[in-house]
Amino acid sequence: MSFAKASVRDAQVKGRRVLVRVDFNVPLADGEVSDDTRIRAALPTIELLRERGAAVILVSHLGRPGGRVDPALSMAPVGARLGALLGTRVKVAKGVIGADVDLDCSGGLGPGDVLLLENVRFEPGETKNDSKLAEGLASLADLYVDDAFGAAHRAHASTEGVAHHVPAYAGLLLERELNELNRVVESPRRPLVVVLGGAKVSDKVGVIDRFLELADKILIGGAMCFSFYRAQGIAIGNSLSDDDSVEAAREALAKAEESDCELLLPVDLVLGREFDAATEIRESDGVEVPDGWMGLDIGPRSRQLYAEAVAAAGTVLWNGPMGAFELEPFAAGTRVVAEAVAAASATTVVGGGDSVAALKQFGLDERVDWVSTGGGASLELLEGKKLPGVEALIDA
Ligand code: 3PG
Repeated sequence: MSFAKASVRDAQVKGRRVLVRVDFNVPLADGEVSDDTRIRAALPTIELLRERGAAVILVSHLGRPGGRVDPALSMAPVGARLGALLGTRVKVAKGVIGADVDLDCSGGLGPGDVLLLENVRFEPGETKNDSKLAEGLASLADLYVDDAFGAAHRAHASTEGVAHHVPAYAGLLLERELNELNRVVESPRRPLVVVLGGAKVSDKVGVIDRFLELADKILIGGAMCFSFYRAQGIAIGNSLSDDDSVEAAREALAKAEESDCELLLPVDLVLGREFDAATEIRESDGVEVPDGWMGLDIGPRSRQLYAEAVAAAGTVLWNGPMGAFELEPFAAGTRVVAEAVAAASATTVVGGGDSVAALKQFGLDERVDWVSTGGGASLELLEGKKLPGVEALIDA
């Protein structure tokens, strides 16, 4: 089903106040934004609104402050970075709704001005989707634009509730994310190759299930392969695996038997004594892991097999690293896959914070067709779940 929600492009915004939900949940280091990808990704919508004469009120969460004010999670550093990117002053409100914000608004928020509200999760009602908070947010503006794809799987006051109290449109980033990810599911160029990594099968079981029906190949890497091995009765030594994931892996293996999609597991591994760059290391030309060792990367034959599958693909979806890429001795598997994705002639889509971080670490993030800003949201969409933040918008 294609995306069919009213777009900010078609909204009448001149001279009006527009509340824009963005996902500025960005990493901070020493009180500054250390990765501004998500801020940059929201700029097209913000620029469009400013050019069209709207006053822009931005709202986002940052971290998980649990409904209490936490000065370490203030939006102030985000406002500073946004101002630098826009080349304009961004006012940061003292709060989220009520008097803290009204002061700033009535203090002259005119066409082209940008006001950033304080962290919406300082309000206890946000994650409860409290209707008073939703109404309070709606009362700040004439219309609402949702551009927070990364938070669209949350039914919170600023992502869902607010849309019931004021005309609600999709932002440009939200639209692009939905179109790019939906295309992978609905009309991929074949073969469709899905590369899945990360720690837990239980986190990705919905995606594995869906793509066993849709994809031509699923390549498994990362610590999640150990749950598959356990399900097959193979020894995994001290490798990471949890019981829920073993159960999920067992079901996925049974489903794969019935499916036309090939589910591939690594055929060799790189082992370490501990999760540490300085640990003793050895390559294993098989997948059994002795006691006292843990698997921390896929081995050279697996890398080559996976790179060849990616090179032969028409569409590649990659979510999750192949190993402990943050430790240099265990980065090769993820690097080879990242390079194969970057070099592929296929349509390439990458989602999930860790694989995006890996692409950046290897300097390859500009070389894929679409890098999703959503982690959990992209997984839920790909699983086929409805995203509450999207459902609440006006139909086109
Ligand atoms: C994310 O970083 O995935 C989104 O901003 C959602 O954050 P949350 O998992 O804290 O809701």
